[in-house]
Amino acid sequence: MNSSLQIWHPFSNRALDPAPFLVEKAEGAYLYTSDRRKIIDAISSWWVNLHGHANPRIGAAIAEQARKLEHVILAGFTHEAAEELASRLSKWVPRGLTHMFFSDDGSTAVEVALKMAVQHFQNLSRPEKIEIVALAHGYHGDTAGAMSVSDESPFTQPFESMRYSVHRVHSAYCYRCPVGLKRESCHIECVQQLERLLEERSERVAAVIVEPLLQGAGGMIVHPVEFLQKVRALCSKHDVLLIADEVLTGFGRTGKMFACDLANVVPDLMCVSKGITGGFLTMGVTLCTDRVEAAFRSENRLHTFYHGHSYTGNALACAAAIANLQIFDDEPVFDRIATISKIHAERLAQLRELHQVGNVRQIGTMGAVEFIADDAGYLSALRPKLYGFFLDHGVLLRPLGNVVYALPPYVIEPDELHRVHDVIVEAIETLL
Ligand SMILES: Cc1ncc(COP(=O)(O)O)c(C=O)c1O
Repeated sequence: MNSSLQIWHPFSNRALDPAPFLVEKAEGAYLYTSDRRKIIDAISSWWVNLHGHANPRIGAAIAEQARKLEHVILAGFTHEAAEELASRLSKWVPRGLTHMFFSDDGSTAVEVALKMAVQHFQNLSRPEKIEIVALAHGYHGDTAGAMSVSDESPFTQPFESMRYSVHRVHSAYCYRCPVGLKRESCHIECVQQLERLLEERSERVAAVIVEPLLQGAGGMIVHPVEFLQKVRALCSKHDVLLIADEVLTGFGRTGKMFACDLANVVPDLMCVSKGITGGFLTMGVTLCTDRVEAAFRSENRLHTFYHGHSYTGNALACAAAIANLQIFDDEPVFDRIATISKIHAERLAQLRELHQVGNVRQIGTMGAVEFIADDAGYLSALRPKLYGFFLDHGVLLRPLGNVVYALPPYVIEPDELHRVHDVIVEAIETLL
């Protein structure tokens, strides 16, 4: 007889990494482990949790839905929870996004957007428009298409053969400006590379994909709103679709419901996931404009979007997402977000002048410090040292190499968030 299967944990190497903690329960911003630790989840468990772990309202909504309908095939059928979610989400998403397509997670929401963009032009008899443009430092997920549009990194290195080629253009990484300018005096010249590309090749380009205003896994890079606005204008001018990957930024993370709202930008396609169910269940959604969808409404059967996943539009996940949006309606969620933003801003301002600190960045509930390091990047030797230090001090923070960031659930109390910042300061004083 086999002994119990060993769980192969993501982003983990059993030869190098400590054994995982056994979490027995979680509540609010805290994780409780079997060895009696109480750990502040300062990264919202990979950026998914919004209103606290084991939120009773979301839990109850899932339980109630489970007694009625757990799941049904979404081709040829629909259900109340999916329809209600569509109706509620329509009140929040940027005006002009009129259709939503369900998938499973952030990566599949991105795959759907890329495939929709390409087939949109095929259906319009423009089969030459197949190329995709993506940003330096971008991250869009770990499936093959999402990995292709993500920038090269240790995550993608073994899979070069599986990545299709895309055009890679500058992002607005102001601390390491790709065109050597200073933000105080620049005019977003970094976007000119995209401008030149589209002037030359837009006849062949289907879409530009961006993480709007905040590039997450690439190092918590915050863009000026003008960058996104200029990308939008260029896409419109050259008849290229703009895909906004709001998988991280959606549902209040940047201070508004969606990052696109901060820039008054409406994308042609938008991917959401992570926070959509408040962190309870997995769900991806790709939204698009009427114009994009219209190309698929056709007498020609081959114009159908032949894409779908078994658990598409799962009723339990829909119930969680409805409860999540109801909390936005009923509770002072944006006040909580504003409090987090204010504390981040105050505490990061105190770090700015330290000699170990290269740059601090903040947008909404995301606050980050980029440390000066000879080996800057995801594999920086600082990463494991900092990660262990934070956990020893009761805080879950997963540095992206030499970049430490906090992205807590919105229910974190001010004193808990100050504790997170205190531990970051202690780490600087002890390790750097
Ligand atoms: C911007 C962005 N897009 C897509 C993804 C992929 O989402 P998932 O891990 O749910 O597949 C992520 C995950 O971190 C992300 O940050």
